[in-house]
Amino acid sequence: MAADYAGVRMTLVTPTIASLRPYEPGKPAEEVAAELGIADAVKLASNENPLGPSPLAVEAMKRALTDVHRYPDARAHRLRERLAARHGVGMPEVLTGNGSNELLELVVRTFCTARHHVVFGEPSFVVYRMTCLAQGVPFSAVPLRDETHDLEAMAAAVTPQTRVMFIANPNNPTGTHVGRAALQNLLKSLPPEVIVVVDEAYVDYADASDYPDAMGLRGLRDRLIVLRTFSKIYGLAALRVGYAVGPAELLDYINRVRAPFNVGTLGQVAASAALDDRSHIDTSRLVNRDQRARLVVELSRFGLRVVPSQANFLYVDFGQAVEPLYERLLGLGVIIRPFGSLPMCARITVGTAGDNDRLLEALGEVLR
Ligand SMILES: Cc1ncc(COP(=O)(O)O)c(C=O)c1O
Repeated sequence: MAADYAGVRMTLVTPTIASLRPYEPGKPAEEVAAELGIADAVKLASNENPLGPSPLAVEAMKRALTDVHRYPDARAHRLRERLAARHGVGMPEVLTGNGSNELLELVVRTFCTARHHVVFGEPSFVVYRMTCLAQGVPFSAVPLRDETHDLEAMAAAVTPQTRVMFIANPNNPTGTHVGRAALQNLLKSLPPEVIVVVDEAYVDYADASDYPDAMGLRGLRDRLIVLRTFSKIYGLAALRVGYAVGPAELLDYINRVRAPFNVGTLGQVAASAALDDRSHIDTSRLVNRDQRARLVVELSRFGLRVVPSQANFLYVDFGQAVEPLYERLLGLGVIIRPFGSLPMCARITVGTAGDNDRLLEALGEVLR
C-alpha cells in the first residue's frame, strides 16, 4: 500500500488495514430471486427474525415518519429510560448504539491503543477481529474447544496489556453457550483492568438451564459490559439499534467517542415499542425453538453433523467442501452462510416452517 506522493514514498494505510477484507454480508433474497427469475428466495444467512418486525414497532414508526426532518434525540433519552427500567439499572449505565456492532467497535476505539491487547474466541463474531485490525490493536484469537468458547484458554491468553475480552454468548457462528459456573469463575478471576464484554445478541433464544444472563452477573465484576441488540428477536435489523449495559464510568468514556446521532429516530421509537411486544417476542421464540429442534433432526438424517444450538441458527459440518453445495443451493433459491476459513461448515438460520421445508427439499436434491 505504498504510494508515491510528491516524490515521497508514503504508506497510505497501515498493514493491518491493508489486510482487511470488507465484511461479507449474506446475499439479499431479492437479488437471488431476480437472478433466478423466481418469485422469492429463502434467506437463511443472516440470523434475522423470519417472522418479520414487531408489529407494534411498525405502528410506532408510522407515527414518527412525519418527524424525520428533525435530528434524532442524540441521547436516545426515552429508549434508554425504558431499557434502564427493564434491567433495573440507572440511565448512566445504558448506552445505545448503531447496532451492537457499533458498540463493539467503540469499546476497542475508546479503551485500546496499539500498546494494548484484546482476547476473543475463534471462530466467533468476525467484527471483533475486524475492529482490532482496523484500530491496529494486537489480539489473541483463542480456538474454541468442542465448538465452544474455551474460557480457561482465553484467561490464559490474557497479558498485562489485555484491555478487552469479547465473549459472544451464545456464540456466532457455532450457536454454543458457556455455562453459568464457568462464566462466573472467569469474571471473578480475570485481572480487574480487563473489560469483559459479553455479547448477548442471541440471548432471547437461549433456553439451556445453565445459560447465564450476564446482566445478573454484573455484581461479580466492575468492568463488565453486556451488549444486546434489537436486530434479532425484535426483528429490527435494518434499523440498527443495539445497547450496552455497564458501569457508568466506562459508558461515559464511550459516549464521548460515539457519533452524536448514532441511532435514528425510527430506530429509537421502534425499539421502545418492540420492547413491550410480548406476543411478537413469545411467538418468535416458540417458532425458533420448534423449528430449531426440527432442523437438528432433519439435517442429521442427511448424515450432517449439527452442533446443538442456543441461538436462531445452526452450525453444520457437511463433511465435504461447502462452497459447491452453497452455490447449488443458491441456484435453487436457498441462501445459507458459508465461511471461507471453515471450508466444510456453514451456518444456517432457522426459518419459518415454510422456509425450512424449502431448505430441506433443496438440500435433499443437492446432497442426493
Ligand atoms: C454475536 C453478534 N454480536 C453482534 C452482532 C451485531 O448485531 P447488530 O449490529 O445488528 O446489533 C451480531 C450480528 O449478527 C452477532 O452475531
